[in-house]
Amino acid sequence: MTDCASLFTPNDSCAAGARAGAPADAREWMRAPGKTDAAGIHRLVADCPPLDLNSVYTYLLLSEHFAGTCVLAGSGDALEGFVSGYVLAQRPDVLFVWQVAVHERARGKGLGLRMLRHLLRRPGLAAVQYVETTVSPGNLASRGMFAGLARGLAAGMREEPFFEPGLFGQASHDDEPLLRIGPFQAAAA
Ligand SMILES: CC(C)(COP(=O)(O)OP(=O)(O)OC[C@H]1O[C@@H](n2cnc3c(N)ncnc32)[C@H](O)[C@@H]1OP(=O)(O)O)[C@@H](O)C(=O)NCCC(=O)NCCS
Repeated sequence: MTDCASLFTPNDSCAAGARAGAPADAREWMRAPGKTDAAGIHRLVADCPPLDLNSVYTYLLLSEHFAGTCVLAGSGDALEGFVSGYVLAQRPDVLFVWQVAVHERARGKGLGLRMLRHLLRRPGLAAVQYVETTVSPGNLASRGMFAGLARGLAAGMREEPFFEPGLFGQASHDDEPLLRIGPFQAAAA
């Protein structure tokens, strides 16, 4: 197991946290998705390699049944970001973040981090004390984003083996180790 907590000082309230607190653009909006968003989410994820592109039906289910743990972001009429997640049935203090997609034109402005923090501030997620996700070793942008989330929450981040390449059957797929951030108080987001 790799312990990433030593990569940063837990109480360092970082610049990323501050930058991620305010919208980069006055027209930015964030909200829970609805079923009429699913086709647009599918297009956005298609534009965001290396994310696995799931079926439109999957995004319909997420938008309809898991809207409380998913967030959609945009600027004016343009869809710019999406986070899907769910609370683990057996461990209700864990929010599992499935996919984070930020359109290329909106990257590097803190949107990914703002969406994650927006989710954690929802009253329905007040009991969440851990965020778990899987991130392939080479996805530096995603690793940087989750490290920024941990810093902002003054929480540790640990990494352990989870979905190894052999579990994906015939399909060639990167390793997907688990990142676990916490414990924290969701209100800290
Ligand atoms: C990963 C992704 C969601 C990040 O979105 P983003 O809005 O650009 O990220 P943010 O601006 O919120 O970045 C937050 C932190 O991540 C890090 N980061 C972002 N992009 C990075 C990059 N290309 N390389 C290294 N670090 C990066 C930075 O440390 C940044 O904090 P900083 O203020 O200290 O610079 C976006 O790049 C994306 O959609 N990529 C394609 C799909 C994907 O890989 N999704 C994640 C799968 S788990």
